[in-house]
Amino acid sequence: MPFGSGKIWMNGTLVDWADARIHIGSHVVHYGSAVFEGARCYSTPRGSACFRLDDHVVRLLNSARIYRMDSPLDRSGWAAAIEDTIRQNALKACYIRPVMYRGYSALGVNPLPCPVDSAIMVWEWEAYLGPDAQEKGVDVCVSSWNRMAPNTFPAMAKSGANYANASLIKMEAVLDGYAEAIALDHQGYISEGSGQNLFLVRNGVIYTPSTTSSILPGITRDSIITIARSLGYEVREELLPREMLYLADEAFFVGTAVEVTPIRSVDKIVVGAGVRGPVTSAVRDTFFDILNGEVPDTHGWLTWVYPEEAHLRQNAASTVAR
Ligand SMILES: Cc1ncc(COP(=O)(O)O)c(C=O)c1O
Repeated sequence: MPFGSGKIWMNGTLVDWADARIHIGSHVVHYGSAVFEGARCYSTPRGSACFRLDDHVVRLLNSARIYRMDSPLDRSGWAAAIEDTIRQNALKACYIRPVMYRGYSALGVNPLPCPVDSAIMVWEWEAYLGPDAQEKGVDVCVSSWNRMAPNTFPAMAKSGANYANASLIKMEAVLDGYAEAIALDHQGYISEGSGQNLFLVRNGVIYTPSTTSSILPGITRDSIITIARSLGYEVREELLPREMLYLADEAFFVGTAVEVTPIRSVDKIVVGAGVRGPVTSAVRDTFFDILNGEVPDTHGWLTWVYPEEAHLRQNAASTVAR
């Protein structure tokens, strides 16, 4: 089911893609008042599985809490609605986009009189930074746009409004011939890409900016930290000066969209040997081994979508089944 067809869940009802409409007077259209998630369902040898679905739902509910939105569903309700939407669209693998937004009532800055409407979209997802990106790496620049300063826009919320900043970062990069850009925080420390977190490797130690650098606390980031530590690497979450980008032995983006994508160069300075490095490969391989059920899912990161596929998991390494 490519983008543009299938069913969309809107306020509890499945509607045809073409009928999933909102009024032009909806608050969200004018003021960016949406919170959303981006998750993935993978087709694995053990069946279709959503990756860290519960963690995505928790982040969605946390984003709503920050913006004083009353969610129409609780944690298990969102998970059930997402799984059902995937099943109703008969998708084996897809990108998952739940969203809550301020709908149509009064039109003024104050969102409180407007209803909290919700939707779930699912569709088959192309490689985000191109088909070769995860193998060969991407060329990126440092953006002239900073991430938002603390106490301006809440970076820990995945809100539509934050992506006005991300769009500026992305457009500048693309128009200047780069695949992506890395934004600095308001103090000039490294923050993240327009839609992905960043890791650097130097002298065998893995570094990533902390939440004090206006990052979205990514679920892939958390997974990679967990994996890297389990492989014996030291991982430091700290303030990182811009020049670490130019001195790193390896650099890579992580996120639901980019998964684990090596960075080949920053501002035309080649990172390390200019190829995917050994640490990047090690964490990436373990990440995909977990996704593909090649190693046990000891963290309970997989949610199996189709009960009729349960036989695929008999005697399999995966431990979480439904
Ligand atoms: C700004 C930003 N940072 C980081 C990420 C990575 O987060 P996750 O791994 O949860 O997809 C995303 C993607 O949602 C993002 O939009």
